[in-house]
Amino acid sequence: MSFDDAIRAVSVDALKFVQDGQVLGLGSGRAAASFVESLSKHIAATKINVVGVPTSLQIKIAAEEGGIPVIDADRAGEVDVVFDGADQINSKGYLIKGGGGALLRENILISAARRVVIMADDSKFVDDLTRPVPVEVHPSARTTAVKPLLDLGCTPRLRLLANKYPFITENGNVILDCDFGTIHEPEILRQKIIGLAGIMEVGIFTRRPNVIYRAHPYGRFTIL
Ligand code: A5P
Repeated sequence: MSFDDAIRAVSVDALKFVQDGQVLGLGSGRAAASFVESLSKHIAATKINVVGVPTSLQIKIAAEEGGIPVIDADRAGEVDVVFDGADQINSKGYLIKGGGGALLRENILISAARRVVIMADDSKFVDDLTRPVPVEVHPSARTTAVKPLLDLGCTPRLRLLANKYPFITENGNVILDCDFGTIHEPEILRQKIIGLAGIMEVGIFTRRPNVIYRAHPYGRFTIL
């Protein structure tokens, strides 16, 4: 059974956290896309009224195609539940996000939501965070942010597309992927990075999820 099958089983189960009349934050990436697919079928079958708040154009299009009404985050006010994936999850429930570049809008919704549901496969779970941290940087700070980040102990690399053009986020910013090795104090590191000039968002998320799905091979999953 593939990653997609395992995540699909999770995304169907996660529908139990959806209620009629809710405002739902829709994360980005494969797990979020799988959830949107399940939600579309659920809405068609049950005729419930929900509104989705997408965190990227990827997921906005998926929601529109699935018949899910969407509104922009600036109109959402309050968000009932966010459904999203993650790039890495440590033993305390801190996340690295932003592998797809949607970290700023994801963190806005995750920070505001009453409930956060994260869906990820086995490979994302670690004791300590080790993945390079995506840091969204205003284009004007692309080079000036490098030295302060180096001083914090990482190797920042400008994220590029396959054709070597810089990756530009949907907010018009660039991403520096910052390799800190093993991260022992995620909250402190996040505070240090977000305090630097020109930093728009940091891919260490410290709002711990209410529900974490861990998808195993063969469609099994556990809820943490
Ligand atoms: C998007 O910017 C990310 O934060 C995604 O949520 C993260 O990369 C997980 O994506 P997958 O579900 O595709 O692994």
